[in-house]
Amino acid sequence: MTGALAVNNAEYPWDLFDSESYQQRNYATLHELDQIIIPLLARFFDEQDLPRHSAAIDVGPGTNLYPAMAMLPFAETITLWEYSSANVVWLEQEIGRYRRSWDDFWQALVRSCDRYRAIRPAELLPQVVKIEKGSIFDLEEGRWDLGTMFFVAESITGMLDECATATTRFVRSLKPGAPFAATFMEGSRGYVVGDHTFPAVAVTEQDVHDILRDVARDVTLHPIRSPQLFRHGYDGMMLVTGVRSDTPSTWVQHGSGSGTNQRKEWSA
Ligand SMILES: C[S@@+](CC[C@H](N)C(=O)[O-])C[C@H]1O[C@@H](n2cnc3c(N)ncnc32)[C@H](O)[C@@H]1O
Repeated sequence: MTGALAVNNAEYPWDLFDSESYQQRNYATLHELDQIIIPLLARFFDEQDLPRHSAAIDVGPGTNLYPAMAMLPFAETITLWEYSSANVVWLEQEIGRYRRSWDDFWQALVRSCDRYRAIRPAELLPQVVKIEKGSIFDLEEGRWDLGTMFFVAESITGMLDECATATTRFVRSLKPGAPFAATFMEGSRGYVVGDHTFPAVAVTEQDVHDILRDVARDVTLHPIRSPQLFRHGYDGMMLVTGVRSDTPSTWVQHGSGSGTNQRKEWSA
């Protein structure tokens, strides 16, 4: 497995991400693959025993609202943690004037699970969503009760080790025992948005299993396939659900003994 481009996240012009172009291409209508992903996502969160006042996070939302929509019945707050200033502006506008095309995504959630039925997403999203500009690599550890990360870790870099660090950071930003859902493009060779090309790592199912081994438990990997995929420069998609492992992060101890002077860091 090799990255399409041996480049790292910082080398790309994320602030020039053409949000509207990305939205139109991927989310103007409910595509076949999202119709496969949405019921799996909804049922996964419905099966979890979540605390009453849950704080949720979607990392790298870009212009995709459906991961956040999927968490609406289960969360008191939903943080959209986005790095690109263009996408932050887009999200701020969209959350306030939710376009009608999201209705099809919402109806797919409603058909998947009764918990969505009584909710008006256009009204609730502005009340619960907080948009924060930040990098996945700067996520605090152990803060959120549930989370999503859709097409981010493998689609922000050309380097496998950076993809692994991003995935690990996402999972460890959750509290031990917290559920998560993440999607990955399989075998992606990068993508064009507007006038710019963005990188990808051509990950396999085995790569994703290996990356999650030390940070997650109860991992289920759902291959998401369609014959139409092969025209678009990738081999398929994966939806991965799981739970952040209960074991503490790999503590790197500075100093000796068990005194209070020890500095604890978590390594990715
Ligand atoms: C391929 S898009 C995925 C967008 C969306 N989640 C989806 O499902 O279509 C990758 C997203 O990651 C964001 N991103 C790039 N670098 C990032 C970083 N260091 N931390 C967090 N997000 C980042 C991009 O701005 C973009 O929104």
